[in-house]
Amino acid sequence: MILTNVSLKPFNTFGIDVNCMAFATFGTRQELDQLIRANQRKPLLILGGGSNILFTKDYEGLVLKNEIQGIEVKERADDYVIVKAGAGELWHDFVLYCIENNFGGVENLSLIPGSVGASPMQNIGAYGVEIKDVFEELEAYHIESGEIHSFDAAACAFGYRESVFKRALKNQYIIISVSFRLTTQNHQLRTDYGAIQEELAQKGIIQPGIKDISDAVIAIRQSKLPNPKQLGNAGSFFKNPVVSTEVYTKIASNFEKVPHYPAGEGHVKLAAGWLIEQAGWKGFREEACGVHEKQALVLVNYAEATGNSIFELSSRIISDINLKFNVLLEREVNIM
Ligand code: EPU
Repeated sequence: MILTNVSLKPFNTFGIDVNCMAFATFGTRQELDQLIRANQRKPLLILGGGSNILFTKDYEGLVLKNEIQGIEVKERADDYVIVKAGAGELWHDFVLYCIENNFGGVENLSLIPGSVGASPMQNIGAYGVEIKDVFEELEAYHIESGEIHSFDAAACAFGYRESVFKRALKNQYIIISVSFRLTTQNHQLRTDYGAIQEELAQKGIIQPGIKDISDAVIAIRQSKLPNPKQLGNAGSFFKNPVVSTEVYTKIASNFEKVPHYPAGEGHVKLAAGWLIEQAGWKGFREEACGVHEKQALVLVNYAEATGNSIFELSSRIISDINLKFNVLLEREVNIM
């Protein structure tokens, strides 16, 4: 059933109140197929959890919300399983399912908002792990032909918050399921991230399991990142920028401790949150929008902010960081 003139406020974690011309949900590939055929070439937007999008105006087209459910073990070997999840499953529900079943690999990605189907789009990542590390394959509906195509990791061309679905194949496919390769024993725990070690130490955990890591990540996220149900946001608004060694050295000469990470020969990755905080924006608030007081990388909607006011704030931050540090920040969130 296609509804007309629907508010998208409940369907984006920023809580921006815009309307779309037409709206429908689909729970199976067949329903998706029917909707696409009935859609007479109107602009099309597929929504998962709506957790990485900023609406700046009404959407003059059809919004389809992916509600394909289901999680199943497709293959079981001695030390790993392949688990397939419907694209419409909530990402964190999938993580909890893995923890309950002792399937290792996604525990560091606990509590990330959004859906399973959106996770490979931007190669979600946190605390030293990215989806590409556990990715097996995905199935996607080809809008033009109505065929289902499979993609392995190489075909997805994963990068930092990047995949082929944001680049060469943008708007051509709708992800319907994702399969993951997860460990069932000898889990390779990633505890190198400082905050995880601190959490574990605080609880006196010396030999952590995947549930301990998941609990630690949940505690860290809850302490820094606003819950979209209480305060509209879309997680990190900007990507962490990769700069030349020269630009880094210049910044490091003025600041004693600049957080930075290796990014290939002649390059360094900086923490955008640090730059934004140093520039004085952390906790900044103007009318209904602002910069989160505990994590400067997150822009927030305090009340009824418009998408445009948040976008303008992001532009001001980009100019200021460019002026002060000679670093050009790139938005991570999709602007519509
Ligand atoms: N920092 C500050 N001030 C701030 C925020 C950060 O000085 O307001 C400093 C921190 O002290 C630290 C460094 O910047 O030295 C990095 O901060 P943090 O560990 O909080 O991570 P991040 O680089 O800000 C990235 C991801 C997050 C992910 C975390 C943890 C991006 C764009 N963001 O943030 O992902 O959860 O690492 O791995 O890569 C998301 O993509 O939506 C997201 C939340």
